[in-house]
Order: sequence, then C-alpha cells, then structure tokens
Amino acid sequence: MEQVHVALLGLGTVGTGVYKMISTNQDVIARQTGRYFEIQSILVRNLDKERNLKGIHHLLTDQFAHVLDKQVDVVVEAMGGVEPALTYVKQAIEHGCHVVTANKELVARHGVELEKLAAEKGVQLLYEASVGGGIPILGTLQHFLKVNRIHKVMGIVNGTTNFILTQMDEGGRDFDDVLAEAQQKGYAEADPTADVEGIDAAHKTAILSRIVFGVAVNVDEIPRRGISDVKRVELQLANMLGYKFKLLAQAEQFGENGPVSCSVMPTLVPHEHPLAGVSGVYNAITAEADQAQDITLVGQGAGEKPTASAVVEDVTNLYRLPLVHRPILQPSLFVPHRNETGLSF
Ligand code: NDP
Ligand code: HSE
Repeated sequence: MEQVHVALLGLGTVGTGVYKMISTNQDVIARQTGRYFEIQSILVRNLDKERNLKGIHHLLTDQFAHVLDKQVDVVVEAMGGVEPALTYVKQAIEHGCHVVTANKELVARHGVELEKLAAEKGVQLLYEASVGGGIPILGTLQHFLKVNRIHKVMGIVNGTTNFILTQMDEGGRDFDDVLAEAQQKGYAEADPTADVEGIDAAHKTAILSRIVFGVAVNVDEIPRRGISDVKRVELQLANMLGYKFKLLAQAEQFGENGPVSCSVMPTLVPHEHPLAGVSGVYNAITAEADQAQDITLVGQGAGEKPTASAVVEDVTNLYRLPLVHRPILQPSLFVPHRNETGLSF
C-alpha cells in the first residue's frame, strides 16, 4: 500500500489527538484512501517535556529545518499563533507539501496569501478544524454552496465560552473555576483571553465569511464583545425571562454580492430557539440559504478527539479514493446492531 509521509507541527491537545487517531483509525483511513499514513517527525518547543505517548521520542525535534529534511507529503500545523507558524507553513508549501492546519488565527489573518501560494505550488491548504472543532462545517458549507445562495451564517463557534456560560448558568459555578476546567480539558486557547474576549470567535467568523461569501474580512474590524463581564445573576435573570445567554457569531450578506456584516456578541436567545439548547463545549452553526432554507450543524467544538477528527478528515480528503474505487464490504461482514433489549433496530 502506498505510504503518505506526515509531519506534525505541535504535540499539544490537537497534535496528540492527530497522532493517536492516525494510529488507532489506520484501518478506516486506509479503506477510504487506499494509503497508509505515517508520522515521520513531530516538531515541539520543549524536548524535555513529559509526553503521555509511548514510542515517539525518536520522532521529536525542536528544529523545523529537520522536519523538511525528511520526505514529507503533508504537514499538519497544530502549534497555534501567527509566528512561527506562518513562516513554517510557507516553507512547507514552498517545499511542495500539502498543509492541513487547525490554526484559526493563522487562517483568518493569512489564509488568502497562503491559499494563493499553495495554488502557485500545486498543493492544498485545508483547515476544517479551524471552525467548529469536530463539526465538518466548512466542507458542508462548500457542498451546500454548489446549489444554494447562503445569505447568513450564525452560531456558537467557541466551545470554551459556551462551556463557561452553561456551567455558570446550570451548575451555579464561578467563571474562573470553569475557565480553569476548560483549560485543563484542552478546550481553551494557549492565552484564554482569545476565548473569553471573543477574539477566537472573530477569527472563525472571518473564515466563515470567506468560505460562504468569498469576502476577506479584516478580523480586527469585526465588532466583538466577550463574556468576561457576564455575571451569574444576569444568566439567572435571562433564564427567568425565557432566554439563554450565548456568545453568538454572525456573518450576513445584504443582497447578492452586497456588503457583508460580521459580529461576535453575547446575545439573549429565546429558550425555544435551537441554539438555546446547545450546551457545554458544543458548537452549533446555522446557515440560511435560498433553496434548502436553514441547516444547523451541532457537535463538539473543541477538545482532543473532535478536533483531531476534523484535521485527519482534511488529511484523508487530500487522498480520498474516487467513489467507484472504494472497496465494498462483503455482506457477511455486517452484524445487526442490537440494543440492550436484544432487539435489532
Ligand atoms: P497546545 O498549546 O496544547 O499545543 C501547542 C503545541 O505546539 C505544543 O506541543 C507546543 O510544544 C507546540 N509549539 C508551540 N509553539 C511552538 C514553537 N514555536 N515551536 C515548536 N513547537 C511549538 O495547543 P492546541 O493543541 O490546543 O492548539 C493547537 C492549534 O489548534 C491552535 O491554533 C488552536 O487554536 C487550534 N485548535 C485547538 C482546538 C482545541 O480544542 N484545543 C480546537 C480547534 C483548533 P510543547 O509541547 O513543547 O510546548
Ligand atoms: N479555544 C477554542 C474553543 C478551541 O474553545 O472553541 C476550538 O477552536
């Protein structure tokens, strides 16, 4: 089976998830792509840090130059921040590697130039994990756009803040306590100010705007407000009045090829609205379209496994087999699914 050589930049929450998933789901991936994916090297900042993965030490390096010394087909960037990620991604593309990144800030600020460079070099830059964690939102919207005009996308795009708001509201907990848990679970950004002040959500809004409307929005011009000053008593009051407080991101186009307006704001959502019931680290994104009308995708918006799923989805999309060539499972391999009562359904 043909091998694909993958280099991983970063071995934190996302990088660790990607490393584990490429190992544990190798059979699924091989079935979909006809290829065997192998991690060749892993770039980290601190070689002395204790890692919870066995048998990886020979792969670790703290020098990016060593990453490109080996044969590499795909570079997965899961470091975060703009620099040195931008420099490394550019060098990887120049080198002829496909790049998959989870880094919203990088894509929101430099996606246009990086995609241009990738096109010039005949490689791809994919970033499904940059919005909505494990929700395949960018791919779905791109399919949807083949036959629909979308005029608005709106939703909960930051898992950390939704986790905080839910725990404060339903669990009666304090902001700092819940934020610390979100950090410990790997949901929050390296600097959680990006989460609680709506900066991360603004990065995602800019990416959605580019995918959906083809408009490159300046992230720093998106009106935004975070949740750092939201009080528990306000959440309780909102509840009594029939609302949930949610940090909502919105991007809307006024007329075909018209201006696009974006925002990230704490918003009172009526209890009966589908977004009001989206709790914890879950994200939900609604697209309003002229033909299909509304679709809403819901799923875990942050964390190791869901994010790794989105990253590996991109990696395999680079090599997905055409539908006709996919191996067909023999009927004898199927077993009926049984629930606890033993009945098939
Ligand atoms: P972490 O902080 O957990 O991990 C970052 C990793 O990158 C670490 O392994 C770190 O090395 C390495 N790193 C950082 N800077 C450098 C550098 N200058 N040189 C070499 N290595 C470096 O981040 P996450 O895994 O949480 O996030 C990674 C990216 O994915 C970010 O862009 C984030 O926004 C995005 N993302 C995160 C999600 C999540 O749920 N956490 C979800 C979706 C996207 P070392 O281990 O030595 O410190
Ligand atoms: N810090 C981000 C969040 C990670 O909480 O949503 C996923 O993009």
